[in-house]
Amino acid sequence: MLVRLIYCSRAQQPIDQALMDEILGASRKYNPAQGITGLLCYSKDIFMQVLEGSRAHVNRLYLKLARDDRHHSLTLLSFHEIEQRKFANWSMAEVALDKLNASLILRHSPLPMLEPFTMPGASAERLLEDLAESGSIQYR
Ligand SMILES: Cc1cc2nc3c(=O)[nH]c(=O)nc-3n(C[C@H](O)[C@H](O)[C@H](O)COP(=O)(O)O)c2cc1C
Repeated sequence: MLVRLIYCSRAQQPIDQALMDEILGASRKYNPAQGITGLLCYSKDIFMQVLEGSRAHVNRLYLKLARDDRHHSLTLLSFHEIEQRKFANWSMAEVALDKLNASLILRHSPLPMLEPFTMPGASAERLLEDLAESGSIQYR
């Protein structure tokens, strides 16, 4: 059985390339063997990540992420069973939201900035889906 989990969090330090390299390095090392796919987007000091995979593996990863002191204030935005994946192409893709046209964020938010802590879970999910379809995905 497949699930999709979306959460947001606040980085302990300003998010820079070195931090993203570390996180994506670990994700791409561990996620394929666990059958986890997803997308990690960030803006200023905020992360928003979608994880797809088996319920057991996604839960285990979320518990691990909650213990990672590079971020805090983990907030579960959405968790549900799915019939099929929407982020199957990436073991973990990244999107730097600051570099995007603000109109994509405005589709789902009152202001042209990523504010997932106050966003309905369904809007967060649609924003991530739009990102996946927008061609903004970096996969280094
Ligand atoms: C925002 C964020 C997202 C992360 N995403 C993943 C991920 O998708 N997969 C993963 O294995 N680790 C991810 N990590 C890193 C894990 O928390 C952990 O450090 C890494 O898996 C190494 O685990 P280990 O110390 O047990 O070897 C992420 C960390 C942060 C801060």
